[in-house]
Amino acid sequence: MYNIAIDGPAGAGKSTIAKEVSKRLGFIYVDTGAMYRAMALSCLRAGVDVTDEAAVTATTDKADVKIAYKDGSQIVLLNGEDVSTEIRKEEVGKNTSKIAVYGKVREKLTVLQKELAATNDVVMDGRDIGTSVLPNADLKIYLTASVETRAKRRYDELVAKGENPDIKVIEEDIVARDYNDSHREISPLTQAEDAILVDSSNMTIEEVVTTIIDYTKK
Ligand code: DC
Repeated sequence: MYNIAIDGPAGAGKSTIAKEVSKRLGFIYVDTGAMYRAMALSCLRAGVDVTDEAAVTATTDKADVKIAYKDGSQIVLLNGEDVSTEIRKEEVGKNTSKIAVYGKVREKLTVLQKELAATNDVVMDGRDIGTSVLPNADLKIYLTASVETRAKRRYDELVAKGENPDIKVIEEDIVARDYNDSHREISPLTQAEDAILVDSSNMTIEEVVTTIIDYTKK
């Protein structure tokens, strides 16, 4: 199996890039953030206090999170229900970074992710794929972009949706998320020693995609 790990901070464009690279190579795309989001959703639905580690792990232990593919796109199933749209809500995103710090939650999802990579050619994106989930991945990419670039991309997305966002607030959220993701005790976001750094600040999507595909040929 050929495994590509793509890690990096929120808003660097990981999912767009990983989806396109997987499509061109005929690999499956595994969005591990979506799996963490489904776990957070199971806690929200159960009315669990996300700061209570024991209550969270009791709930996530029972949650059945699966990745499936529908019309060529990844969908996420929580106890058999397609929750792909619901997990994108702001409230779910905020709570996901809180439950992603718990070792038991990470362990459970890591096992699932390793299984997927052992049986499929995958492009897997997340925060800890190259460092912890797939330390022997064939290719590791650390995809990043400046805070300003990432904030501008998010701003444009929200404007396109008809919202009226404040770019300063978006920047502050990004800085806070980066801090949380890179300072947690277990599997913090960090570039693996053998990962290739790709800074997409001044690159188009096409340039990033072809850069990564070129590395698979080296
Ligand atoms: O990539 P995303 O925004 O969907 O990720 C949601 C949250 O999950 C984010 O706070 C980081 C966390 N996450 C993680 O801890 N480990 C991963 N492999 C993927 C995501």
